[in-house]
Amino acid sequence: MKIIVFEIIFGIFLTILESWVASESTTTTPVSDKFLPDHPDLKESDKYSVPVAKGRQVQFENITVYESAYKNDTQIMLITIYDIFGFHPHVKFIADKLADQGVFVVIPDLFHGNPVPLENFPQPSFMERAQHLFSKNGSWVENKPDLLNVIKHYKTKYGIARVGMFGFCWGGKIAVLAASDEDFSDSLNAIGLVHPSRVTNEDAFDIRVPALLLPSKSEPDMLPFLKTLNDNIKGNKSDHHRYDAMQHGFAGARSDFSDIEIRTNVENVIYRLSTFFKQVLA
Ligand SMILES: *[C@@H]1O[C@H](CO)[C@@H](O)[C@H](O)[C@H]1NC(C)=O
Ligand SMILES: *[C@@H]1O[C@H](CO)[C@@H](O)[C@H](O)[C@H]1NC(C)=O
Ligand SMILES: *[C@@H]1O[C@H](CO)[C@@H](O)[C@H](O)[C@H]1NC(C)=O
Ligand SMILES: *[C@@H]1O[C@H](CO)[C@@H](O)[C@H](O)[C@H]1NC(C)=O
Repeated sequence: MKIIVFEIIFGIFLTILESWVASESTTTTPVSDKFLPDHPDLKESDKYSVPVAKGRQVQFENITVYESAYKNDTQIMLITIYDIFGFHPHVKFIADKLADQGVFVVIPDLFHGNPVPLENFPQPSFMERAQHLFSKNGSWVENKPDLLNVIKHYKTKYGIARVGMFGFCWGGKIAVLAASDEDFSDSLNAIGLVHPSRVTNEDAFDIRVPALLLPSKSEPDMLPFLKTLNDNIKGNKSDHHRYDAMQHGFAGARSDFSDIEIRTNVENVIYRLSTFFKQVLA
C-alpha cells in the first residue's frame, strides 16, 4: 500500500515536472519546421551522406563557388563558410535548406580544392594538417581577397543588396574576422557562428554587425560575447542559443545525420539561421 501511494505521488510529481519542462522548452526553444527529410532507416553506412545537393558549382576569377538554386527574386545572399573539411554534403545540404527559405546561398571553396581530408580525422597527422591550415591556406590574409571577390561578383551580377555570412568551426572565426575588417563594412551586414573554433570573448569588441551565436557544449560560454555585441551595436539584434547536449562539430562535416537527436538539433540550427538572417537582412 505504501509503495502504491508513493508511486501515485511520485507519478504526479513527474507529470508536474514534465509539464513544467515542456512549457519551459516551448518558451525558450521555438518548435522548428521540419527541414531534414524523413529517413527512418539510416544505417551506419549513411553516416556521412545526405540527399544530393541541389545547387551547382561555378567558377569565376580564381575561385570555385557552390551556388544554391538561384530563383532571381531575392536581394539577400548568405555566404556559407565551411569547416576545415571543405565542401561536404552536410554543408551543401544546410545551404540548400536555407535557400529553400527564400535567400540566395553560396559556399566559396576558400581552400581551392585542398581541404583537410575527413579520412585523416582523428589521426595524429590531422592536428598537424589543421595547424598548417590555420596558419597558411586558412589564414585571414589568404581568404580575405577571395571573400571580397565573391561579394563583388554577386553584387554586380545578381544585384545582391544585403549579405550575411555564417561559418562552422574554423569558418565561424572567418566570419568574425570579416565582420571586424573595415574593408567589409559596406558589404557585410550580419554574421552567424555555428559551434565556432578559436573565437574569444575579446573578438566581440571589433565586430560591427549583429551576430547569431550558436555554440555547442564544447565551446566556452558566449553570453559575455553577446553582451559586448549588444553594448556596441545599436538595436540589440544579436542572438544566442547554446546547444548544451551537442558536441563541437555537430552540424558540420563530422556530424552524424543518422542520429535522430543530432538531426533534430541540426534542424534547429537551420531554423535559427534562417529566422535570424531574414530578420536582420530584411
Ligand atoms: C533577374 O531578373 C531581372 C529582372 O527580371 C533581370 O533584369 C536580371 O537579368 C535577372 N538576373 C539573372 C541573373 O537572371
Ligand atoms: C595551399 O594552397 C595551395 C594553392 O591552392 C595548394 O597548392 C597547396 O597544396 C595548399 N596546401 C595545403 C597544405 O593544402
Ligand atoms: C585569387 O585571386 C586573389 C586576387 O583576386 C589573390 O589574392 C589570391 O591569392 C588568389 N588565390 C589563389 C589560390 O590563387
Ligand atoms: C541592449 O543590450 C544592452 C546590453 O546588454 C542592455 O544594457 C540594454 O538594456 C538593451 N537594450 C534594449 C532596448 O533591450
